[in-house]
Amino acid sequence: MIAKILPLLFILGLFAAKTPAPPATYKYVGAAKCKMCHNKPPKGEQYKKWSQGPHAKAMKSLSADEAKDPKCLKCHSTAAGVDAGLKMGITVKEGVSCESCHGPGSMYKSMTIMKNKEKALASGLILPDEKVCIKCHNKESKNFKSFNYKEYVAKIAHPDPTRK
Ligand code: HEC
Ligand code: HEC
Ligand code: HEC
Ligand code: HEC
Repeated sequence: MIAKILPLLFILGLFAAKTPAPPATYKYVGAAKCKMCHNKPPKGEQYKKWSQGPHAKAMKSLSADEAKDPKCLKCHSTAAGVDAGLKMGITVKEGVSCESCHGPGSMYKSMTIMKNKEKALASGLILPDEKVCIKCHNKESKNFKSFNYKEYVAKIAHPDPTRK
């Protein structure tokens, strides 16, 4: 028996050794970090727009009990759905935060990487499309109304007028 399994284990071992190292683990830094660079009025004050929009207020829609219920938290709070080890400053009460849409920021948030779009995208930055939204905007939500990407994305727009 052992003799039969050993070569197999050996082959599995070889495979394990050949698999490339897993990508660095990106962690969630929280909206306050993004605010440092993304809250200037001439550049579109993204933080302020987000904080006044529906996503930053998503925890306020829940009662005290619901705010502890994983069934609600998974769509109403970015931090609540993240493993403890991946939280690097993000809080549950900030609701649906930047990083639900733009990806966890620990590796892309530095100025040198952020200034270089390619590097930022390679370090976890996401420029979201409809697929990102419908992870939460779907019928699993009992309050689901409808979802029209064009209409909904316009309601949360936070463009930088100095770009494009
Ligand atoms: C140290 C400053 C800094 C921090 C912190 C920072 N950014 Fe940026 N970000 C930039 C700069 C600089 C650019 C390049 C565009 C520009 O000049 O405004 C940029 C660009 C972006 C873009 C547009 C990318 C593109 O090319 O279309 C997104 C989206 C973005 N940042 C999201 C975030 C999010 C989310 C966070 C927090 C997790 C964050 N940033 C933190 C400085 C920063
Ligand atoms: C992590 C889950 C999540 C993701 C991802 C998400 N949303 Fe939301 N969104 C919510 C929740 C929860 C609410 C309700 C907030 C509240 O009122 O409590 C909401 C509310 C909204 C509203 C307000 C709707 C209304 O009735 O006024 C708009 C607009 C919206 N989202 C657009 C988007 C768009 C566009 C995307 C993708 C780019 C997106 N959302 C991605 C969870 C999410
Ligand atoms: C699959 C994701 C998801 C889950 C799970 C979820 N929600 Fe939501 N919730 C949303 C979205 C998205 C909206 C925005 C409504 C829309 O535009 O469709 C929302 C809106 C709301 C609203 C605001 C309704 C309004 O229009 O003013 C309340 C209140 C709410 N949810 C409570 C809850 C509670 C309580 C739970 C847990 C039992 C829960 N949600 C679970 C995604 C979710
Ligand atoms: C619900 C999803 C969602 C959330 C939350 C969100 N964004 Fe965005 N963000 C988008 C979408 C969609 C775009 C447009 C992407 C594109 O142009 O391809 C965008 C674009 C941007 C851009 C580029 C603007 C430009 O014109 O170049 C920046 C910078 C940015 N977001 C920063 C932030 C910051 C900082 C936060 C949190 C304070 C945040 N976003 C929260 C969905 C989101």
